[in-house]
Amino acid sequence: KGAVPMPETALMALRFEVLGRFNRARAAQLTLPHFVCQTPLFMPVGTQGTIKGLATNQLEDIGCQIILGNTYHLALRPTSELIDELGGLHKFMNWPRALLTDSGESSGWKANAPYTRGVYSNPSMCFTLAYFGYSCYINRIGADIIMALDDVVKTTITGPRIEEAMYRTLRWIDRCIAAHKRPYDQNLFGIVQGGLDPVLRDICVRGLVDRNLPGYAIGGLAGGEDKDSFWRVVAQCTAALPEDKPRYVMGVGYPLDIVVCSALGADMYDCVYPTRTARFGTALVPEGVLKLKNNAMAEDTRPIDSTCACMVCKNYSRAYIHSLVSKDAMGSQLLSYHNLYYMMQLSRNLHSSIVRGKFPEFVCNFLQKMFPKGD
Ligand code: GUN
Ligand code: ZN
Repeated sequence: KGAVPMPETALMALRFEVLGRFNRARAAQLTLPHFVCQTPLFMPVGTQGTIKGLATNQLEDIGCQIILGNTYHLALRPTSELIDELGGLHKFMNWPRALLTDSGESSGWKANAPYTRGVYSNPSMCFTLAYFGYSCYINRIGADIIMALDDVVKTTITGPRIEEAMYRTLRWIDRCIAAHKRPYDQNLFGIVQGGLDPVLRDICVRGLVDRNLPGYAIGGLAGGEDKDSFWRVVAQCTAALPEDKPRYVMGVGYPLDIVVCSALGADMYDCVYPTRTARFGTALVPEGVLKLKNNAMAEDTRPIDSTCACMVCKNYSRAYIHSLVSKDAMGSQLLSYHNLYYMMQLSRNLHSSIVRGKFPEFVCNFLQKMFPKGD
């Protein structure tokens, strides 16, 4: 076939060492140009070069290893030229650890008719992004991991559009490889598409594996499909992807999904959920969620989660946070801090339980707290 694999030098910007396994689950050390990461790991999502409500030193405090930027937004404002001129995104936002840039699904990438909506509604942006400039942007922004340009279709759609998007994603990976100017310090990850169709997913995985990329993502999920289909696609893809390269499930997610996907052999996750739900007054806790807007919180002097060691739980009561939510930005900032701490702690627990051979105990304990009645 016509697949042009990445040159071997392209694999030098990353090292992936598996430290422990339990069945398909693995805990690894992922060495990137700006940080040595422990997997499984969760990556908070920033859009305009910031995680809403948190300063970069706070993200370091909670143990955040990689944060996600959005090429489309950064390319528009403050522009990739400016970021490049000011020394790259790491320097610009004062984030010394690893960065990942995605092509920008949150700006309409996942729309059903992408040629008329979202990213593509700006024809010049569409043209530039898709055919010439994408790699320019991502190389200028300078992230440790750069996601290939893909064509995302909602999983609830069926028919030829799914196949078209999968083949387009495979054509675009070759353009991304050809245009990639910094393989020595930026890792280009391919994205598996193909909707819920196992045949299309198989063609896409094989095509991408033939390109010998430094890492792989499973895309097009968490778009409203049922959990069974979601887990089936993740299981199929992780089984077909190389053992010695990182696997990233995009747009996931809920703590439960991260535990299940890690059991299926996935290593990396990103989602706006922890920070978005914080802005709606919701805290993530071992039992599930805690709604701080609830009137029952008004006089509750306990911390959000008595088992949480974060700055917020050490210092503030539910009553205080209740009094802030929807009245002052500090309310959602404190909740975002706690929620991201929760996700970092979940990542650390997944990693250490796999390394110590205690993964089943961790999963049992996690499920028991979340579903005490066994449902
Ligand atoms: N974020 C969540 N899902 C996807 C996807 O399928 N592709 C890209 N590029 N980003 C995503
Ligand atoms: Zn906390």
